[in-house]
Amino acid sequence: MKIPEQITRLGMLLAGVLAAVLLLRFVILPADMFSAAPHQAAKAVREMAKPVHYAGMPACRECHADIYDTKSAGGHRYMGCENCHGAAAAHASDPATGNPPLPSEREFCYACHAFDPSRPNGFPQIEPTEHRAGKKCIRCHDPHDPVPPSAPSDCSGCHGVIAKTKATSSHATVECAACHEVPEQHFTSPRAALPTKPAGRESCGQCHGSDATDSGAPRVDLASHGDSYQCWQCHYPHAPEMTR
Ligand code: HEC
Ligand code: HEC
Ligand code: HEC
Ligand code: HEC
Ligand code: HEC
Ligand code: HEC
Ligand code: HEC
Ligand code: HEC
Repeated sequence: MKIPEQITRLGMLLAGVLAAVLLLRFVILPADMFSAAPHQAAKAVREMAKPVHYAGMPACRECHADIYDTKSAGGHRYMGCENCHGAAAAHASDPATGNPPLPSEREFCYACHAFDPSRPNGFPQIEPTEHRAGKKCIRCHDPHDPVPPSAPSDCSGCHGVIAKTKATSSHATVECAACHEVPEQHFTSPRAALPTKPAGRESCGQCHGSDATDSGAPRVDLASHGDSYQCWQCHYPHAPEMTR
């Protein structure tokens, strides 16, 4: 049987169209028009080429193990180092490039601890204008273990008021033992063995004199400041910002 002319032409036309489509699909048009895989591969390459900013806590641990251990045992254990010190990958791979910043201003801590009624019950919060206003938080709270300062319970049990007053004062971080030598017997029969008390201006001068070393304490000129009176005639030693 003879195939009619018009069918042959139609067949050739269809074959031509099919060839053109196949040519377009597999030769002319790029493969990534038809599959996501090349896009994904290219994106991975692009992202990998970007500089890394955060190193992550395990990296910090390699060189700052002591701080890592302190922090892991305290109230800030779930916070990353770089939450506070900023992205520090460059520092971690080469400390000589510079030190990360130390966020030591009060305002930094407000972000999480300034009173906000929407925070969950029991989350430790403070009223910034009232809680030791004007003093740096890190004076009393170690940022790596922020547990509030308190006198050793072995003193506060009997000298509660003094301990509480001191804990909220400028001398919060000065230990009782810096000013009082306490005999063992004082704990069992307190009146029979009294602790020592500072003897003179020099005992305060070890931290406040102009030649005092290694202390964050403000300096005064021992020779002239407060005449020759005992320091505690004017400053209550357990809250020295109160002058009496
Ligand atoms: C390869 C070791 C190394 C790694 C890893 C490392 N550090 Fe350090 N870091 C140092 C050295 C060394 C210093 C400088 C110490 C100095 O100045 O006394 C320093 C200083 C710092 C300081 C500033 C100290 C200051 O007194 O100003 C901070 C903050 C700090 N590092 C945080 C981090 C954090 C966060 C990480 C993790 C992202 C980290 N470091 C990873 C070695 C390292
Ligand atoms: C809640 C915020 C916070 C977190 C979390 C934190 N730091 Fe700090 N860090 C500080 C502040 C504030 C200082 C400054 C302390 C000062 O001046 O006394 C500091 C000081 C430092 C210093 C200087 C030396 C020193 O002992 O004071 C290093 C080093 C350091 N941090 C490393 C780390 C590492 C490593 C981690 C994670 C394991 C970390 N920090 C987590 C806030 C933080
Ligand atoms: C002079 C020492 C001192 C300074 C400075 C200080 N605090 Fe405190 N903080 C304490 C003491 C002591 C407590 C224990 C409770 C009390 O007496 O209010 C405490 C309690 C807290 C608590 C509650 C802890 C809990 O377990 O409920 C938080 C949160 C806190 N402080 C954060 C801060 C922040 C943030 C700053 C800085 C804006 C700061 N503190 C400055 C001494 C201080
Ligand atoms: C990114 C949020 C964040 C920042 C910033 C932050 N903290 Fe905290 N802080 C926390 C969390 C979370 C806890 C644990 C709360 C809990 O135990 O429920 C905590 C706990 C505390 C506690 C109670 C600790 C205890 O052991 O009872 C104190 C005090 C404290 N922080 C002080 C500070 C100080 C001072 C700063 C500034 C240097 C600071 N925080 C910065 C999130 C933060
Ligand atoms: C078991 C209770 C008790 C404990 C614990 C205790 N004290 Fe006392 N302390 C007393 C009593 C009681 C006195 C005498 C008060 C008086 O005579 O008015 C006293 C007196 C003192 C005095 C005054 C001495 C004087 O000459 O006036 C100092 C300073 C003192 N204690 C410091 C401390 C310190 C620091 C600690 C902690 C290491 C401590 N005490 C622990 C009960 C105690
Ligand atoms: C900065 C030094 C200093 C520190 C720290 C200190 N004291 Fe005193 N303390 C003194 C001085 C000075 C006196 C004598 C004050 C006077 O004679 O007016 C005194 C007196 C006392 C007295 C006799 C009663 C009184 O109020 O005069 C007691 C009790 C006492 N201190 C307990 C403590 C305890 C407990 C601590 C720790 C929580 C402590 N002190 C920390 C300097 C200090
Ligand atoms: C072991 C060191 C040490 C000794 C001893 C000491 N101080 Fe201080 N004192 C400090 C430090 C640290 C500060 C600063 C605290 C701050 O700025 O938050 C301070 C702060 C003060 C201030 C400033 C208060 C303010 O905020 O304006 C006075 C006043 C003061 N002390 C008086 C005394 C007197 C009086 C004595 C002796 C009875 C004494 N100090 C003994 C360490 C000491
Ligand atoms: C006659 C009273 C008097 C005597 C005694 C006295 N002071 Fe003061 N002191 C003051 C007054 C008032 C201020 C606050 C005004 C000022 O800064 O001069 C002050 C301030 C201070 C400050 C804070 C300085 C600053 O820069 O913030 C310190 C620290 C201090 N005294 C320590 C001492 C010491 C240590 C002694 C004993 C050697 C002493 N004072 C004796 C009255 C006295």
